[in-house]
Amino acid sequence: TGGLITLDPGYKNTGSCESAITFLDGEKGVLRYRGYTIEELAEKAQFLEVAYLLIFGELPNKEELAKFHKDITDESHIDEEMKKILDGFPKSAHPMGVLSSLTSALIAFNPSTVDVSSEKEMYHAIVRILAKFPVLVAWTLRKKKGLPLDYGDDDLGYVENIHKMMFKRPSQTYKKNDVVIEALDKLLILHADHEQNCSTSTVRIVGSSHAGLFASLSAGISALWGPLHGGANQAVLEMLEAIEKDGGDTKKYMAKAKDKDDPFRLMGFGHRVYKNFDPRAKIIKKAADDVLADLGIDDPILEIAKGLEKEALEDSYFVDRKLYPNVDFYSGIIYRALGIPTEMFTVMFAMGRLPGWIAQWREMRLRGEPIGRPRQVYTGATKRPFVEVENR
Ligand code: SDX
Repeated sequence: TGGLITLDPGYKNTGSCESAITFLDGEKGVLRYRGYTIEELAEKAQFLEVAYLLIFGELPNKEELAKFHKDITDESHIDEEMKKILDGFPKSAHPMGVLSSLTSALIAFNPSTVDVSSEKEMYHAIVRILAKFPVLVAWTLRKKKGLPLDYGDDDLGYVENIHKMMFKRPSQTYKKNDVVIEALDKLLILHADHEQNCSTSTVRIVGSSHAGLFASLSAGISALWGPLHGGANQAVLEMLEAIEKDGGDTKKYMAKAKDKDDPFRLMGFGHRVYKNFDPRAKIIKKAADDVLADLGIDDPILEIAKGLEKEALEDSYFVDRKLYPNVDFYSGIIYRALGIPTEMFTVMFAMGRLPGWIAQWREMRLRGEPIGRPRQVYTGATKRPFVEVENR
C-alpha cells in the first residue's frame, strides 16, 4: 500500500479551526451570531448592525453604527476605469462570475487594502469592500438590463440604498417600500454567516496566505456559486418552475431525486450540519408568506414549494437521510417577489454573506493563524522505476 500517514493530530493546517463568531447546533437547529440567536437578530436588528456584530464582536451603539455607516458611504465611489472591465463581459455572463472578477479587479484600484496587518489597516479595507461591493452588484444587474450605471444616495439606509441602486429607473423618483426593505434586510441577516461552510473556508484558506481581503472574497464568491452551495437558491427556483411547467407533478421530481442513477437532487433540501431543520428555512418560509401577502402577490410557486416540502417530510427516503429544507429552499420565492432576477439570487446570498466572510478573515488574520495546509491520506502507486517510452 502507499502507507498511511499520521494526519496532524491537532486541528491546525487541516482546514478546521477555532472561531468565536458563529455557533451552530445541527441536531437542535440552533444558529447564533456572537451569542445572539438568529431568530432575535432577524426580528429586531438591521443588517448593518449584524455586519458590525459579526466583524467586531459586539452590537454597535448609536454612535458606533452611525460612524460605521458614514465610513462606508465615504468609500462608495469606484474608479470609472472599472466600468471598462464590466463592459468586457457579454450580457450573458453569470453575475457571480462577473462579481468574482470585479472584486479581484478592485485590488488594482485599492492597493492599500492588500498588505494589511493592523486593525486600523484592516478596518480601512473592510469599509471599502462593504461600500463598493453593493455598487458592483447594482452595476452588474443594471448593465444586463441596459440601464445607466450610477451610485446610490448616502442619505439612505444601507439596505435601502442597495435596493435603490439596483432598481431605480432613470426617470423614476425612488420611493421606499417598507415591506420590501424589511424583507431584504431580514434575508441578508439570515445569510450573513454560517461558520466554516465551503465558501467561508475558502475565504479563510486564501486569506491565510496573506493574499489580501479582496482576493480572499473573490475566491469565496466563486466557491459560493456552486449549485451544491449558494447556487442552490437559483437551482431551487429553476426546479420549482420546471415542476410548475410539468403541471405541478412533484411526484416525478421526488422520484428523480431518489433515483440513484439520476444525478438530480431536490435542490434546497439537505445540509451537512443541520439534521433536523435549518432554523433559517423556518424563518424564511414564514417571511415568504408575509411578504407575498403584504405585496398582494399570489405566486403558485410558493404552493408548489410547500407541497414538495410536505411530500418530502412524509417520504422515508428523505426522512431516513435527514433531508429537510435548507436556507435556499424558500429564499428565491421572496427574491422573486421583490423583483430580483433568478440569476441574481446567489449574488444576494453573497451580499448577505459578505460580513461573515469578512469577520472570519479578520479573526484568522488577527489571531496570526499559519497558512492553511490540509494534509491527505495517500492512496496512489507505490515506488516504481521509470520505463522508457519505447518499452511502455
Ligand atoms: C448551503 O455548509 C453550509 O453551512 C452551507 C450553507 C451556508 O449557509 O453556507 O448552509 C448554504 O449551501 C445550503 C445547501 C444548499 N445546497 C442544496 O440545497 C443542494 C442540494 N443538497 C445537496 O446536494 C446536499 O444535501 C448537500 C450538499 C447540501 C449536503 O450534502 P451532504 O451532507 O454531503 O450529503 P451527502 O451528499 O453525503 O448525501 C447523503 C445522502 C446521499 O444518499 P445515499 O448515498 O446515502 O443513498 O443523502 C442524499 C445523497 O444522495 N441526498 C440527497 C439530497 N441531499 C443529499 N438526495 C436527494 N436530494 C438532495 N437534496
